Amino acid sequence: MRGVDLSAELTDEVVAEIRAAWLDHKVLAFPDQDLSDDDLERFTLHFGPFGVDPYFAAIDGHPNIAAILRTADEKSSLFAENWHADWSFQEFPPDGTCLYGKVIPPVGGDTLFSNQQAALEAMPAELRQRIEGVQAIHSARGGYAPDGTYGDDDVDARSMNIKPNDDAYATQLHPVIRTHPETGAETLYSVLGYIIGFEGVDGEAMNADEERELLGELYGWQTRDEFQYRHQWEANMLVMWDNRCVLHRATGGYDGHDRLLHRTTIGYNPAVRPAGKDA
Ligand code: SIN
Repeated sequence: MRGVDLSAELTDEVVAEIRAAWLDHKVLAFPDQDLSDDDLERFTLHFGPFGVDPYFAAIDGHPNIAAILRTADEKSSLFAENWHADWSFQEFPPDGTCLYGKVIPPVGGDTLFSNQQAALEAMPAELRQRIEGVQAIHSARGGYAPDGTYGDDDVDARSMNIKPNDDAYATQLHPVIRTHPETGAETLYSVLGYIIGFEGVDGEAMNADEERELLGELYGWQTRDEFQYRHQWEANMLVMWDNRCVLHRATGGYDGHDRLLHRTTIGYNPAVRPAGKDA
């Protein structure tokens, strides 16, 4: 979106316009924005409360901003390289995320998004029938447990300030198909990675073979090229996405260059759910 200065106080009308565009397009980019960390926080709060970032240490003086950082000479695995919906393992997962480009490499470092409303709409009836009424089991263990990808063995090699801990072994159920609280559209929610298994329609454990097959098949469908958008960054660009209906992942290709973005989380907002928790 152009023609708006996000460092200025925004009127209710402008916020409503941005919210409508966010719900419609799911990912919004605002190029050429000169934002301080205070500006980024103020902008975020127009769309909900701050979310809880359980495994990031915040930057100094801003408890709700995390630095997504990779230095030019870093050798650790790429952060957030797997498809995911942010913090889907929480009981009340975030509604969205804001990411502001500060240092952007001249090549690589794009972010990919996958539209999960479109993925569900186009899903073959046979696959949809297998996930109807099914609950997914979510957990942060693969990433943030002490033995996870960003666990104890990784901390020293990584420039990002990640704090693994035992809470990551916890699990949380969410329906595989959720209704978006603001648009009313049905959408697939989260993906293999944070999703570690399924509970069947009757609340019983799924047969292990069936579960493995469904996890793989669903992942393959959710991440098909036709649902994807590749976002190329510029410095001073703010991107906000709707975590309830898109997946995203980072990409590499910028070894030898620094990359730094500041991130805030738009938390679960009861004000947009007058009827209670999402179905
Ligand atoms: C994230 O998932 O928060 C980071 C995405 C990126 O670095 O492109």
